[in-house]
Amino acid sequence: MTSVDIAVVVDAGEAARLVAERLAEQARAGGSIVLTGGSTPRRAYEAAAELEPDWSRVELWWGDERCVPPDDERSNYAMAKAALLDRLETQPTAHRMQGELGRDDGAAEYRYELADVGTFDLVVLGLGPDGHVASLFPAFPTLDVTNRDVVGSEAGHEPFVDRITLTLPRLCATRELLFLVTGEDKADAVSRALAGEPSPKTPGSLARSAEGTTRAVLDRAAASKL
Ligand code: 6PG
Repeated sequence: MTSVDIAVVVDAGEAARLVAERLAEQARAGGSIVLTGGSTPRRAYEAAAELEPDWSRVELWWGDERCVPPDDERSNYAMAKAALLDRLETQPTAHRMQGELGRDDGAAEYRYELADVGTFDLVVLGLGPDGHVASLFPAFPTLDVTNRDVVGSEAGHEPFVDRITLTLPRLCATRELLFLVTGEDKADAVSRALAGEPSPKTPGSLARSAEGTTRAVLDRAAASKL
């Protein structure tokens, strides 16, 4: 496994700022960006929109989605729309996962949408307290899928609704994979994912850029067990 370039900053606000700068830089350069869901990246998305309101050169993708309508409060798309898209002057080409289709049809649609897409430029990932990334949960069979870009899954963590998720090979096909993790409740998972042996018990330990760099931006609390 390639090593991870880790930046530890003082708090969650500073972590969001660093990731926002990276997102804004990629938006200016253009290319493909894969967003993570969850609540941690909200501040980074808001700040990125402020730093760079023109995302017209970006192809925007999602790493995972909950199987709910796009305006549901649990939707990863809804979070990104409110925090990022609605604040931009010029929109990217946004490829949202259609959670409302259910996990199997939604995954099939996204596979079709991704069919001709090569290496991503930037994949942003959060990390669950159980070590999950995207909707790839500890010891789930989805971790072994290598012949598909997108799969449906049951939920292994709250919110307990079905999921659509990129598979490991598709997430790792990126020039840069960037973890953003904050908070003391993530400290164990961070040490297993970034400093432990690769293991399906900690999906984050299996997420590394296959052909570029893997970085992590952590606050002190999340880094406290490294
Ligand atoms: C999701 C995610 C997931 C998330 C982690 C961390 O849809 O839930 O993409 O992998 O990044 O669960 O979420 P928090 O930032 O909310 O802790």
